[in-house]
Amino acid sequence: MNKTVVCSQVEDTEKIGTEIAEYAQKEGYTFIALYGDLGVGKTALVRGFVAFYGDSHNVMSPTYNLVNVYGDIYHFDMYRISDEDDLYSIGFYDYDDGKNIIITEWSENIEYALPDRYLRVTIKKTENHENERVIEIKTVGK
Ligand SMILES: Nc1ncnc2c1ncn2[C@@H]1O[C@H](COP(=O)(O)OP(=O)(O)OP(=O)(O)O)[C@@H](O)[C@H]1O
Ligand SMILES: [Mg+2]
Repeated sequence: MNKTVVCSQVEDTEKIGTEIAEYAQKEGYTFIALYGDLGVGKTALVRGFVAFYGDSHNVMSPTYNLVNVYGDIYHFDMYRISDEDDLYSIGFYDYDDGKNIIITEWSENIEYALPDRYLRVTIKKTENHENERVIEIKTVGK
């Protein structure tokens, strides 16, 4: 999947999250790296992603506890991660076993730790409208 979509409200972004989950399951992607500035809608997208699995989880920003777990999905916020020691101390490498699903906010901070194959999702605000977002989805690796 290499596509760019425009979302005009938060529900659209959640829906894209659900579509990404469906695609990831179909194509066997277990790692989703999210990119984008503060408040752009990364956690909103994760809410839709998790909803695909049908369980009613309360998806919140893991900014303070760094990882939230919903079933087999590990939702990380890398905002405060500054080096690989930090990644080891939050157990990042233990969770990324190829079976669990990993979704990371602030992937900008962990470029060196990304796997060979993953979905790269970039969310940007636009100048058109306060609630408009451009979401780019790219496959990385084979
Ligand atoms: N089209 C949209 N898509 C996503 N969020 C939107 C959109 N329009 C408005 N919003 C609002 O933007 C905010 C996005 O918050 P969210 O916590 O998802 O951002 P975030 O990227 O995870 O931020 P952080 O970097 O702090 O973790 C919410 O308040 C949401 O209602
Ligand atoms: Mg967030």
